[in-house]
Amino acid sequence: MLSIDMCASLPPPTEGITLKKLLTALKRCAAVGAAALAIASLQPVSAAQAAPTPVVGGTTATQGEFPFMVRLSMGCGGALYTPQIVLTAAHCVSGSGANTSITATAGVVDLQSTTGRVQVKSTYVYRAPGYNGNGKDWALIKLASPITTVPTLKIATTTQYNTGTFTIAGWGSASEGGAQQRYLRKATVPFVSDATCRSYSGYSGLVASDEICAGYTAGGVDTCQGDSGGPMFRRDSANAWIQVGIVSWGIGCARANAPGVYSEVSTFASAIASAAASL
Ligand code: ARG
Repeated sequence: MLSIDMCASLPPPTEGITLKKLLTALKRCAAVGAAALAIASLQPVSAAQAAPTPVVGGTTATQGEFPFMVRLSMGCGGALYTPQIVLTAAHCVSGSGANTSITATAGVVDLQSTTGRVQVKSTYVYRAPGYNGNGKDWALIKLASPITTVPTLKIATTTQYNTGTFTIAGWGSASEGGAQQRYLRKATVPFVSDATCRSYSGYSGLVASDEICAGYTAGGVDTCQGDSGGPMFRRDSANAWIQVGIVSWGIGCARANAPGVYSEVSTFASAIASAAASL
């Protein structure tokens, strides 16, 4: 049921390993594995080669379509929350504190294009307090200087947009176990209720207050390794993009009866705002 083939650093299968611990480990190693993959695999797709299925089941985004998207150098996604703060997943970072090791890339769908590309180093990482791999999967990354050439993405502050069809985007694997992508990919996925989500094999530990699921029962479209930390978003009543989720985890990618699980942004909106104001 659990695919662990892309993970080299899982805890040994000793007595007492719970599904929850295994999932946590999977989430952790996914981000680290993605970072390693990112170095080797951000190569152009050769013209003769068939285009891989994107974000798993989507298409390439056009330049400027989702201008708030950020690629982080550890192999995760993110969204610009303020000009100088990126919202990402807690499992993409190692803890809170001064941190100058992360590079954020914004302004481009093609990570190798220098036209419009802005690259800024981190100065500080704020990981959600109490994060232990079970819900609370959000973090903020303070940048050395503001990125003023692209807009920010507003976050949902109420539950009203936690329904409908969501857009997902990222530079992660285009198929389960596949390479990181050079070009930003996008897709749409429908909301899945907590009750339905929890009923699937591997999802009984879903933290309903902290997590929101999305995907098709038949699978085929999903976020995947390396998309973590990126936003799941939709249009609000004024037709503006609004972030409702943060890519967190799933059992494999795009499998049937195995939705993507996203941090429920509305739950954390005030904590995110106060933390951001303190950075
Ligand atoms: N944890 C993964 C990462 O670090 C994201 C997994 C999303 N999986 C899914 N099936 N939606 O990139």
